[in-house]
Amino acid sequence: MLALSSSTALADDVEVLHWWTSGGEAAALNVLKEDLAEQGIGWFDMPVAGGGGEGAMTALRARVTAGNAPTAVQMLGFDIIDWANEGVLGNLDEVAMAEGWDAVVPEALQFFSKHEGHWIAAPVNVHSTNWVWMNKSALADTGLAEPTNWEELVAVLDAMKENGITPLGHGGQAWQDATLFDSVVLSLGDDFYKTTMIDLNMDALGGEKMVQAFERMATLRSYVDDNFSGRDWNLASTMVLNGTAGMQIMGDWAKGEFLRAGKVPGEDFVCIRFPGTQGAVTFNSDQFVMFDVDHGKDAQKAMAAAVMNPVFQSAFNVVKGSVPARTDVSNADFDACGQKGMADLADAGSNGRLFGSMAHGHSVPASVKNAIYDVVTAHFNGEYDAQTAASELVNAVESAM
Ligand code: GAL
Repeated sequence: MLALSSSTALADDVEVLHWWTSGGEAAALNVLKEDLAEQGIGWFDMPVAGGGGEGAMTALRARVTAGNAPTAVQMLGFDIIDWANEGVLGNLDEVAMAEGWDAVVPEALQFFSKHEGHWIAAPVNVHSTNWVWMNKSALADTGLAEPTNWEELVAVLDAMKENGITPLGHGGQAWQDATLFDSVVLSLGDDFYKTTMIDLNMDALGGEKMVQAFERMATLRSYVDDNFSGRDWNLASTMVLNGTAGMQIMGDWAKGEFLRAGKVPGEDFVCIRFPGTQGAVTFNSDQFVMFDVDHGKDAQKAMAAAVMNPVFQSAFNVVKGSVPARTDVSNADFDACGQKGMADLADAGSNGRLFGSMAHGHSVPASVKNAIYDVVTAHFNGEYDAQTAASELVNAVESAM
């Protein structure tokens, strides 16, 4: 099937490998497909299900090893750097220069979109992971206000439990556990996040504060339902939108699911920053990376230009739940959560409070990320107590470096 799609791809087509298979993600992808179709660029779809993209990255490795790279690939952060270092990516300088990307793409994104000064990827969005999505009436039923710190969050979770719903909608998959971990670590301080998740300081990784982070993870674990293991993230979003769960701690792709179900921010659901992380942002950006292929270079350039078009960036991100990857796009078409996301991103950027998401490949290379995943998940599933988890984290990170 893979061979079929690539062998039938024409010069004016793009074969796109991605993991946008949930309802909200597919709706956003359609915005892109339709935009390209209007320009006469055909689309060969290569979806690989699995939130966070681990499955997609495994499929990509197999394709490249077989000498059959797709023309365009959805990719995150350090994965882009890894592939660039292998020398197998195309060069987008021509279109980037002609369209002035240098001036409009935030520095934090350019770090990943450029390799040795050359553009190798077109960023389509900026997501962030330190969000909480709450069912508005489930929150109202608690009689409590939107939580602003850890203690208030726990109080809301307790009250939801008393009200007979699952307080925390969650799917037990390593990347989802790690997404919670992004927020929990950040809630213990910007410096703590930076020192541990970016600088990989061993003392901090194994220190008292990390023990506290794991204790918080265990507390969160106590609010998930018995069937959480292996559940896809979008099913956890569905639990929140139909009120069987009170909240989900997840990146803003969750909003794509709520919107797709016709839910309205502020009326049906509430978006807040994970309590204790207000003003800071852990971001990830989906970028389209173009491989150095024999055929289809023109289509690649056209796709890159289409992805970076400001009108498209607004239309796409309104549906996806993310915010534009360029600084010059109006927020007029975005809902209240999207407008907050755009303002938070700009503020965090100018206040030195913008950090790459560990869980979504923007703080450390994949090898280290996977080592952190293993420990976080083992602890979340009760294999380690908090103290052991902190020491295992040091061991895991040390051996992955
Ligand atoms: C993230 C990606 C998002 C969304 C999410 C769940 O890594 O950046 O676009 O797709 O995974 O699949």
